[in-house]
Amino acid sequence: MIRRKLIAGNWKMNKTAADGVALIKDITAEIGRLGSVDIVVCPPFTALESAAKALEGQSVKLGAQNMHPEKSGAYTGEVSAEMLRSLFVSHVILGHSERRTYFAETDAFINKKVVASLANQLKPILCVGETLAEREAGQTLAVVQKQTEGGLAGVTAEQITNVVIAYEPVWAIGTGKVATTAQAQEVHAFIRDLLTKLYGAPLAQKIRILYGGSMKPSNAPELLAEKDIDGGLIGGASLEARSFIDLVKAAD
Ligand code: G3P
Repeated sequence: MIRRKLIAGNWKMNKTAADGVALIKDITAEIGRLGSVDIVVCPPFTALESAAKALEGQSVKLGAQNMHPEKSGAYTGEVSAEMLRSLFVSHVILGHSERRTYFAETDAFINKKVVASLANQLKPILCVGETLAEREAGQTLAVVQKQTEGGLAGVTAEQITNVVIAYEPVWAIGTGKVATTAQAQEVHAFIRDLLTKLYGAPLAQKIRILYGGSMKPSNAPELLAEKDIDGGLIGGASLEARSFIDLVKAAD
């Protein structure tokens, strides 16, 4: 089974709308219409509309970094799936470890968002991953299983191929400490087995599982060569056109 590689840039809380447009222009000028890699950029909410305009006619897709599961209502500061769709957003990062840690997001709440995103034709990028303490306590696979199963509760077989899973070991995010290819592949294979148990092999083979955590042009080729690593969710290295383009090329 050949899965198309996916490189997604998570800009986190970086870039004004104008900075975002400049970065997108630099990226699209060089990447053009690369045929074999799917590319997504995920600016902050305030830069989505201008990013959508800058991406018109381009093959690079637009993602958001979060959303609220309800349709509308008294949720000050929140944004719904429908609002994202109206800005031509196609993907949404959900359950990022920064949201789990700083905003106390639980698997149950993240699951509501996953279900709502799919009901609104958005493709969720569901993030899972263990902390350093959990890895050292030998709990990595149990944590990843709980977060994956919890996040996917109620997701049907018809919907599952629209889901992307991102394995991001928390200890590797923004630290420069990348997981070894063996550590990453072990968890990716474990997630694929889990998906096979939940949805059967034919569907599990179609689901993209991205690696995230200090991925750079220098370490990407080795990671992307692993059987179950289907791309990257990139933080720091997605903020500069040169490194993001080189990551896309590594996946091509
Ligand atoms: O979502 C991407 C991420 O958390 C990884 O960040 O800066 O380690 O590439 P970074």
